[in-house]
Amino acid sequence: MADTDFDLIVIGGGSIGLSTAWHASQRGWRTLVLERFGFFNDDGSSAGASRQYRIQYSQKYLAELAIAAQDYWSSLQQRTGETLLGSVGSVWFGDPALSSQEGGIQAAMDTMDALSVPYTKLEAEAIEQVYGFRDLPSNYSGFFQPNGAIINLKAAERAMYTAARDSGCVHLRAWTPVDGIDSGAEGRIEVASGTERFVASRLALTPGAYANAVLDPLGVSIDLDIWEMSSAYFRKEAQDVRYPTWFVFQEPQTTSLFYGFPEVDWAFPGYIRAAPDIADRILKDPAERSGVPSAKSLTLTSDWVRDHMTGLEPTPQFTSTCLIALATGKSGKELLLDYLPATVPNSQKIVTYTAGWAAKFIPILGEMVCQMLEAEVETFHFGDFAIARSNFAIDWKPAG
Ligand code: BEZ
Repeated sequence: MADTDFDLIVIGGGSIGLSTAWHASQRGWRTLVLERFGFFNDDGSSAGASRQYRIQYSQKYLAELAIAAQDYWSSLQQRTGETLLGSVGSVWFGDPALSSQEGGIQAAMDTMDALSVPYTKLEAEAIEQVYGFRDLPSNYSGFFQPNGAIINLKAAERAMYTAARDSGCVHLRAWTPVDGIDSGAEGRIEVASGTERFVASRLALTPGAYANAVLDPLGVSIDLDIWEMSSAYFRKEAQDVRYPTWFVFQEPQTTSLFYGFPEVDWAFPGYIRAAPDIADRILKDPAERSGVPSAKSLTLTSDWVRDHMTGLEPTPQFTSTCLIALATGKSGKELLLDYLPATVPNSQKIVTYTAGWAAKFIPILGEMVCQMLEAEVETFHFGDFAIARSNFAIDWKPAG
């Protein structure tokens, strides 16, 4: 096999691309990962230090997938001395009747009941007394789910990168933007970067917000909205202040959805992260990114911290932005994962993952991509769960 011939090329070396490379290495596939920037960058969906792991979902298949992901988190955890999941639990609270893009409190409790997932119901008073919030409307309620955790995103990426690299069968190439893909006869898939050509029998496209630029040479596109979102850390004023991971559901949703994290030693110790679940800007092309948090988002978050959190100084510090691709339209799809349409040669050997709040699924998504590239998958089987691939189907559009 020539140096440029691979069993699998992965385009996009963010968290899902690295997960795919890690699982490919466990299959012994000679794999090439092409990343347009440096690895562990903050230029796309894998930006920032932390994410939330949660089981509670309105959709049963996503709760099942989050539960199934636990074994994969454990197996990744065994590969590193860094803590990947800080198990602090998850508190969802707010207006119990409200349903947002992250789901709703009652719908999530219904799913947890259906799956026998443990949780404790909370009224406003307990949310204030136990979890450090204050001055909540008296009708607010919610729950505590003990498996919720803060994800050490960069440590997870490092663990997957190291596992892939140390396998000896994965080549990881930074600063290698792809400018051409030719899927041709006899299962040959050629990928171009500048004057270099790489050939593989399988292709995984995991470019996150950059999906449409990567898909363009294949003549297809996906209707995506790219949210540029901002986030900030707030200085702890009181030593004993402890938060779980949390999400507050309130109206109006365009200005009042917030989420946050505990203090961790891997990112700005002495500070606690809180963020609005609101787009600063909705883009069609990542190049339109400003890289600067909007003053409105920072003010809204700062006001929430000042009015409803205890022990924090409400001036935002260490601000950042990230890009998150989300499926548009009425599909209601959370995660997009599919083969290319049959019009593209070797379509069953090319899998695309993009879009959605995917961090909690990182170590299982790479496994799903590899299963699809191994043989045609209609249903994913994880333990007792059978999760239909149609839940993730992409509504393909022509490029352009
Ligand atoms: C999530 O758990 O999916 C999530 C949490 C905070 C913001 C957005 C999404």
